[in-house]
Amino acid sequence: MTDLIPALDALRALNPPQQPVYDDPARVDEVVSQLRRLPPLVFAGECDDLKARLAQAAAGKAFVLQGGDCAETFDTVTAASIQRRLRVLLSMGVVLTYAAEVPVIKIGRMAGQYAKPRSKPTETRGGVELPAYRGDAVNGFDFTPESRRPDPDRLLRAYYASAATLNLVRAFVKGGFADLRAMHSWNADFVRKAHVSARYEQLTGEIDRALAFMATIGVDGGEAFRTVDFWASHEALLIDYEHALTRIDSRTALPYNVGGHLLWVGERTRLPGGAHAELLKRLRNPLGIKAGPNANPDDILRLADELDPAHEPGRLMVITRLGADRVRSVLPPLVNAMEATGRKVVWVCDPMHGNTFESGTGYKTRSFADVTAELDGFFDVHAELGTWPGGVHFELTGDDVTECVGGAADVSVDDLANAYETVCDPRLNRQQSLELAFMVADRLSHLEHASRRAPVMPDVL
Ligand code: PEP
Ligand code: CO
Repeated sequence: MTDLIPALDALRALNPPQQPVYDDPARVDEVVSQLRRLPPLVFAGECDDLKARLAQAAAGKAFVLQGGDCAETFDTVTAASIQRRLRVLLSMGVVLTYAAEVPVIKIGRMAGQYAKPRSKPTETRGGVELPAYRGDAVNGFDFTPESRRPDPDRLLRAYYASAATLNLVRAFVKGGFADLRAMHSWNADFVRKAHVSARYEQLTGEIDRALAFMATIGVDGGEAFRTVDFWASHEALLIDYEHALTRIDSRTALPYNVGGHLLWVGERTRLPGGAHAELLKRLRNPLGIKAGPNANPDDILRLADELDPAHEPGRLMVITRLGADRVRSVLPPLVNAMEATGRKVVWVCDPMHGNTFESGTGYKTRSFADVTAELDGFFDVHAELGTWPGGVHFELTGDDVTECVGGAADVSVDDLANAYETVCDPRLNRQQSLELAFMVADRLSHLEHASRRAPVMPDVL
């Protein structure tokens, strides 16, 4: 270990919250040393590229679309599941790019999102109390003592599941699946029955015509039409895993986490001076900070100072998850406090985590109306303050699940039982996701933004 990276034992000594308690610590150490020998999942240079893109978003010239499962599972490391998740994100990306005329930075909550913070350490069902499910990287979802026992070998499985997912994602985005000319077919099975179908069909039709026109006049869009840049992100929760995936980059001799392009620190683990901050601050990856309704602006500023002392463009994304009823009162002081420091962060709205409730029928759910209300609040606040709404962060899936209520298809509380498949938080289904993309595109298209303004040459300023 170099002094550029704190020792794992030093981080463990800080008592990081939300870590599993293993009954075989020696096995944890063996697994960690195996993980250290395994190859990187991402190249450090890619993390630098993403940081440069995020600097554009911080400057009001690009927009972030981040989304995926609340918790990925080993069972859904299948071609079909990965393809469906990618398809919904790419479809949303095209809607945003085309309708809002802004470059969209597409980041999956994918290829590493296997660990979950929990509000309670145990779960009780029918009088039986077992450890809470903490994500497939820690234990199993089945409610049995064997399955809920934290198993260090799952950290290795999480690595291999991430590798397999990222491998297919890379093949899809560079190998032809993401070709704009195939965009119609991405949702061919779905648009006929979907309420957003007319808008989606119209948009893909317009893009097809534009592409045909360009081909006729001999313009070849080249790689830009055939491939997509797509980035992998997850919450940096498990200190053992994230430490093992932290490596010194041979080009720069600096530490990067090579388990994902962007890592974020969650609402429950973002303690300034805590183990998560101590590890993340050493990494050269771009980073996210989640901020909930009780976030004290001073704490967020302190953490931002720890993670980004140099005010590096593109380094930080603040992902607010405040709730529809709090966004208009809590966001302005936070934005004002950050702006007053001169640091330009990417402001991202997560309209999911502040809007969770339990249905009368016992399902953890979210309402589409609350999600759109938080998004509206986010856009309104940034318009009032003159700051750029830098992006959105969704929990979604490519499957036609019934986990969130509302939307044009009007999933009702009674429908929740039909296809409630999540192992953690409720996700938007494909139709709800696409509907939101159009809503966000509408808001963005009414904004004055830097990429549409006439360029100002620095030498004439
Ligand atoms: C999450 O993104 O799944 C999550 C746990 O969020 P937060 O840290 O904002 O509660
Ligand atoms: Co979640």
